[in-house]
Amino acid sequence: MSPSLYADHLRTVLARYEAALAASGFDQAVVHSGIPKVAFQDDYHYAFKPNPNFLQLLPLDRHPGCFVSISIGKKPQLIFLQPFDYWHVVPEDPSGDWVAHFDITVIRTPAEAKSVLKLTGKAAFIGEDSAHFDDWGFAAFNPQTLLAPLHWQRGLKTAWEVENIAAANRIGARAHNAARDAFLAGESELGIHYAYLRASGLKESELPYGNIVALNEHGAVLHYTELQSKKPAQSRSFLIDAGANVNGYASDITRTYARDKNEFAELIAALDVHQLKLIDAVRPGQSYVDLHIAFNRAIGGLLKQFGVITIDGDSAVEQGITSTFFPHGIGHLLGIQVHDIAGRVADPQGTPNPPPAAHPYLRLTRKIEKDMVFTVEPGIYFIDMLLNELKAKPQAAHVNWAKVEAFKPFGGVRIEDNVLITDGTPRNLTREAFAAV
Ligand code: GLY
Ligand code: MN
Ligand code: MN
Repeated sequence: MSPSLYADHLRTVLARYEAALAASGFDQAVVHSGIPKVAFQDDYHYAFKPNPNFLQLLPLDRHPGCFVSISIGKKPQLIFLQPFDYWHVVPEDPSGDWVAHFDITVIRTPAEAKSVLKLTGKAAFIGEDSAHFDDWGFAAFNPQTLLAPLHWQRGLKTAWEVENIAAANRIGARAHNAARDAFLAGESELGIHYAYLRASGLKESELPYGNIVALNEHGAVLHYTELQSKKPAQSRSFLIDAGANVNGYASDITRTYARDKNEFAELIAALDVHQLKLIDAVRPGQSYVDLHIAFNRAIGGLLKQFGVITIDGDSAVEQGITSTFFPHGIGHLLGIQVHDIAGRVADPQGTPNPPPAAHPYLRLTRKIEKDMVFTVEPGIYFIDMLLNELKAKPQAAHVNWAKVEAFKPFGGVRIEDNVLITDGTPRNLTREAFAAV
């Protein structure tokens, strides 16, 4: 990746901070990377998950106890914790293209930061565990007036952020292919998961989320993460939702496979066609809620086409039938967080913008804008709990229950791509990655 991409990224993010500081009346923003968390009554730590606001400023994703201080018109300051510690591996000296953009002070204990940090005027702390910093002189902790515009703008990715997500897609695509091969070889869910890890070169703790590796009926559990070690007698179908991380930026990819040429394989292929067609039509200015509803209609149409329901797709949406088979949102913003922040706000001030009552799980309700990266992840599932609810309603008359029973052993299908919005046809970072590997 070219160094200028990062330099441009940092310039953009710092400009956003300066504008947000000026507008909210703060003089300084101090962003803390985080403190490692210890298990209750234990001395073992959970995997460290850095403050995403910190991670957006520089690619230090395994560095607790660090601070970036941003003041209007000044070079940002980095306080870099490199502890004296012979129990653990200590972070190496700061290195990389980003180093030149910061005034760096190395500290050896977390407490040293207090004297190194020069608080001037009204300083805002951005991070977790604010109780540790009560007496450091901050005027506010995580003030919404400062954070809301920054989070809103994080929905629009810089070119550097896009390149990281694209690279995370290439790692994911390579690992997805290895997982597919392991499925075809009859591996267990755990065996497939290992194949994924090996091909990705990532440790489990480096994945953006726990891999969803679901054989057969398990595909009907939306977030199935059991990873059974026993091979099933028969592997009919395989749903894998797994990503990768590059410089703290995630990919979030789902693919579904059928072992045999059958109706389930046809359902996967048909959903794939609709997914690509609807993605191609996405343009800035449209509403993501409308995109979600358009996918509900398409899924209704597929249910009719495959004989699962007896009424047309639009009527199925109106009668609430599609949400039995597609009970989640069509996607979400993607970035440092898999479900990136500020998807459900109406404006840079953070005014809540909840999803429509009929679609409570939709995680993105904003107008679609150029430079947004979001997922598009339609699915059709055969979920006992939801099917039983539908069976008890008058709408049950519109369902071909024998067809439902025939599909149940395959669990469900989901196809998830990561999409960058442009002025024209969106850039599908996931398809691009599969084509490249
Ligand atoms: N992997 C979680 C999701 O697709 O949102
Ligand atoms: Mn997703
Ligand atoms: Mn996913």
